[in-house]
Amino acid sequence: MRIVLDYNNMLAPRLGGRGIDPAALEGMAERFREAHADTQRRRESGEMGFFSLTQEDDTLASIEAFAEGAGQAFSDFVVLGIGGSALGMIALRSALLKPSWNELSDEERDFFPRIHVLDNVDPATIGPFLDRLELGRTLFNVVSKSGGTAETMSQYLIVRQRLQEKLGDGYRRHLLFTTDPEKGVLRQLAKQEDIASLPIPPSVGGRFSVLSAVGLLPAAMVGIDVRELLAGAREMAERCDTDDLRSNPAGLFAVLQYLADTEADAPIHVMMPYSDRLRDVADWFRQLWAESLGKQSTRGGEEVFAGPTPVKSLGATDQHSQVQLYIEGPFDKTITFLAEAEREIDVEIPSVYPELGELGYLGGQTLGGLLRTEMLATEAALARRGRMNMMLELPRVDARSLGGVFMLFQIATVYAGHLYGVDPLDQPGVELGKQLTYGIMGRAGFETQRAEWEGRAPKRDDWTSR
Ligand code: PA5
Repeated sequence: MRIVLDYNNMLAPRLGGRGIDPAALEGMAERFREAHADTQRRRESGEMGFFSLTQEDDTLASIEAFAEGAGQAFSDFVVLGIGGSALGMIALRSALLKPSWNELSDEERDFFPRIHVLDNVDPATIGPFLDRLELGRTLFNVVSKSGGTAETMSQYLIVRQRLQEKLGDGYRRHLLFTTDPEKGVLRQLAKQEDIASLPIPPSVGGRFSVLSAVGLLPAAMVGIDVRELLAGAREMAERCDTDDLRSNPAGLFAVLQYLADTEADAPIHVMMPYSDRLRDVADWFRQLWAESLGKQSTRGGEEVFAGPTPVKSLGATDQHSQVQLYIEGPFDKTITFLAEAEREIDVEIPSVYPELGELGYLGGQTLGGLLRTEMLATEAALARRGRMNMMLELPRVDARSLGGVFMLFQIATVYAGHLYGVDPLDQPGVELGKQLTYGIMGRAGFETQRAEWEGRAPKRDDWTSR
């Protein structure tokens, strides 16, 4: 069985006339061929390194060797990173580790470490978390492509100081850097202080890095089968290696979402897993889609202010929160269901009150069956009310399928970038925020910078409600 994309409910004939005209989809065949060719060109010129990650045997060997040596020697493994340097591992953790992993005993975790991903700098979280950790049994993986992101580097500075206070020179053995092979301050520190490190290939950007050492090393540390992940990704890349739109699932996803946004007034793209294990895949996708496609200018420099707004949702939980809006609110959304065909675990619902119609129907069913029925019912209700939706179904939630899903959405994102005319690989808006933070914190100091701004911007008291 393989990953299946069912997009019937994106098309007008299923939606009572709303949605995408099948002729419009057919009409995109040539534009898609160009998108595919452009992607191939950029891939061959070395700009799209994420494609080659499935072939990086040397890096894979170093990752496995490192994880083998260190994996069971630590009780806790902590990732310091943010954005693309954190979200992939968070998705892998929720999907592929036993639920409540960090609360399990050492035996239940097969002596693999607990895993934590610190993807923010809220002192109320970080302070107490670090106070509770047994530093002498913890490995910290500092993950930053640029090696200079304020959140990650401030986490690192705090951790390093605490390690050094506790362990003296032995602090080095508790650090591992994953960063650019040449550039950035983290690489410089790795050399200077002789700290173990793994490379992120220069042509692999943060949100496309889950299948590099960024995701693979933490995954290997907790016993995830990284070879299966890569095999799944490789299979999907091969499946998408065609310029025939109808046979290319990444192409179909990109073109349909693009048409929904630009031709059918649906710029909000909801990703809705019906599986707790896939909930963080939706979060990972949200960053990928938003940061890659939300752009002020085209690659040619023309102002476009492009980009759909991705939203994450969770079935069945959000049936009682968001689905009313999706089914009856504005026609401005597409819903992509993420489903698993076969569940590893299911729980039977007992027949406690067979005589009561309101409860009797549940007896003898399973929770997995209920969840699936609710998904199919929501799908049908959306279609009946003319709402575009599609279903991406994984055979099961395992490393191979996850690798396939990551690759599918990464390829879809670069195709969509071409269709919108923007560069999906850059993030000038994020960089601007980083520069301003640097300017305020580093150069001028917060108060001075604010005073400078206040010369140009409205005074705080003018428009502030206190
Ligand atoms: O996708 C991206 O490029 C960003 O989200 C980055 O991953 C994020 O800003 C963190 O950057 P870095 O890995 O350089 O610390």
